[in-house]
Amino acid sequence: MAQATVVNGRTAVVTGAASGIGRALAQRLAQHGCPVAICDWDEAGLEETAAAISGPVLARRLDVSDRHGALAFAAEVADWAPAPLGIVVNNAGVTVSQTAAEGSIEDDEWVMNVNFWGVVNGTRAYLPILLRQRSGAVVNVSSVFGLMTFPTQSSYCASKFAVRGYTEALRHELRGSGVNAITVHPGGIRTNIVKNARFHVDDQGGTDHERMVREFARIARTSPRKAAKTIHEGVLKGKDRILIGPDATAISLLTRAVPVHYFDVIERGMKLVRR
Ligand SMILES: NC(=O)c1ccc[n+]([C@@H]2O[C@H](COP(=O)([O-])OP(=O)(O)OC[C@H]3O[C@@H](n4cnc5c(N)ncnc54)[C@H](O)[C@@H]3O)[C@@H](O)[C@H]2O)c1
Repeated sequence: MAQATVVNGRTAVVTGAASGIGRALAQRLAQHGCPVAICDWDEAGLEETAAAISGPVLARRLDVSDRHGALAFAAEVADWAPAPLGIVVNNAGVTVSQTAAEGSIEDDEWVMNVNFWGVVNGTRAYLPILLRQRSGAVVNVSSVFGLMTFPTQSSYCASKFAVRGYTEALRHELRGSGVNAITVHPGGIRTNIVKNARFHVDDQGGTDHERMVREFARIARTSPRKAAKTIHEGVLKGKDRILIGPDATAISLLTRAVPVHYFDVIERGMKLVRR
């Protein structure tokens, strides 16, 4: 267990705050006295998030895969921050549903650029500030697909395993520095992630994106508010790895019990769910 991070009342940075988990987390942290610096490439959604926050807020349009843009935003945050930096949550993410054999390489690159390089850019931009302070936490959002893999999610799984590997290595580097590196593995959360996905084909060979959106809405049991609460409380408690939802806990257990053949169990479970 890492040391507990002081979060409440400190400045918080949240990427991908125009929707879902990022929006709920920005709102929750603001309610706990954090000045929040939020970014997203969806400007309209970001404005809606900012309008619902009553405390200090800095909102900027940013594509997290743009390294120079991330550094410029971090410099702006450092000038603006009314309180020391508490947490940086690299949350922005996207996915594509396609097979590894026939999928679009551009879509694979899009997913890696946002999910992996976006996390690297966000981590590197704020680490110098956190290390100077000798306090705070980098919170990088992976997925249960950073614990297990699933057909048609090869690039998403690769990006989320990469986030996990990067963040865990960083955690070891940061020992004794006063700064924590935390991984978050959400299970199914009722957000726009599947609606916003690029879609070619699903794991059943189906080509109906709307069907996949409906199925996800049925399977995803946890609300973004609950996800935000779990992340916030996990950071306050000094957790290194935060699992969100009973499905994430079950998948974590399963992949440790059956590390190579876990998908046999998942496949049987999916058949039952789809009945
Ligand atoms: N919803 C789930 O079931 C689930 C499960 C596991 C992991 N996650 C992860 O949680 C994180 C948040 O996703 P969510 O579920 O809230 O989805 P969401 O689609 O509701 O929110 C993601 C946000 O990221 C933003 N974004 C996408 N690309 C961006 C870019 N290049 N630059 C800046 N912003 C960008 C989107 O505009 C959106 O506002 C993601 O990293 C996702 O992979 C979600």
